[in-house]
Amino acid sequence: MNHVPAYSRITGTGSHLPEKILTNADLEKTLDTSDQWIRERTGIQQRHIAAEGETTGDLAYEAALKALQAADVSASELDMIVVGTTTPDLVFPSTACLLQSRLGANGCAAMDVNAACSGFIYALGVADNFIRSGAKQKVLVVGAETLTRMVDWTDRSTAVLFGDGAGAVVLEASEEPGVLSTHLHADGGYADLLAATAGVSKGFKAEERGGLKITMKGNEVFKVAVRTLGRIVTETLEAHGMVKSDIDFLVPHQANLRIINATAKALGMDMDQVVVTVDKHGNTSSASVPMALDVAVRSGQIKPGMTVLLEAFGGGFTWGSALIKM
Ligand code: UT7
Repeated sequence: MNHVPAYSRITGTGSHLPEKILTNADLEKTLDTSDQWIRERTGIQQRHIAAEGETTGDLAYEAALKALQAADVSASELDMIVVGTTTPDLVFPSTACLLQSRLGANGCAAMDVNAACSGFIYALGVADNFIRSGAKQKVLVVGAETLTRMVDWTDRSTAVLFGDGAGAVVLEASEEPGVLSTHLHADGGYADLLAATAGVSKGFKAEERGGLKITMKGNEVFKVAVRTLGRIVTETLEAHGMVKSDIDFLVPHQANLRIINATAKALGMDMDQVVVTVDKHGNTSSASVPMALDVAVRSGQIKPGMTVLLEAFGGGFTWGSALIKM
């Protein structure tokens, strides 16, 4: 029988952004918008856009290589790959399978998890539970997206928000505290507030449905997001008998600086305890939390021993958190 470890633990992080940058000034040329509106309402200054032919899998591969290197783990040691994504390269094989083969980790379990912007937190929750059951020991967890592929570039209410990228972590069985808990939720009753307009079973002929694009009632999503993230923070703290001041650092989903500020305020945190990448990355859905985590780890903002809260909210609605001892 497999040994059952006390914890799973993050042993390495990595991230990757496509080269091309689209600034607010670029968007001003094609849309009825302004740099001032985008900065004031979202905090976004620029976003990265995948090149033609550059896929979610390509971004995931680069992020995965960096995470494996940081963890000093070779791909052949992995016994599972979980990729959070809403924009897979293909319907199947999964992006995780394509990534597995490219990394040379053939034979290990590999699957995608679609939970929109909460995709990485969900993928982390899946991986943590597999490790703590004793079934897996070394898991690569990725959040990767090319969301701009389904952006309607004529719709100013969504076109200014999204960007592409990938982040990854290596999660390993450990007797030392690592992931303390994950908390995952969804409410499909809100499906109409944030969705894609086309899919396989609904119909592949996207053009007949006005194209494959993201539709969002932003203002309504905003209100539910702020309320829901407040609740998940409380749920996470209560699960451990902790108080707000026990959290050393916050890694929030990067959708809107105003939502991030609201969560930080609810936690009584200074903004120097919060990683902010939305200004440079935009909203990268599943990739946002692992990219922000990698930025904070590599910049030294997150230090070993810190108690870190990860949280996300997205289409579905889905939402979740992970409390982690680094
Ligand atoms: O990651 C998944 C979860 N997603 C989110 O968490 C996103 C949540 N929502 C948001 O971040 C915000 O609601 C948005 C940034 C999307 C929008 O900000 P808002 O302050 O809620 O704006 P609004 O939708 O209430 O629109 C206010 C005004 C409207 O004009 P009127 O009707 O007041 O004349 C919009 O037409 O702003 C207008 N507007 C814009 N103006 C210039 C909307 N988009 C733009 C734009 N440039 N890009």
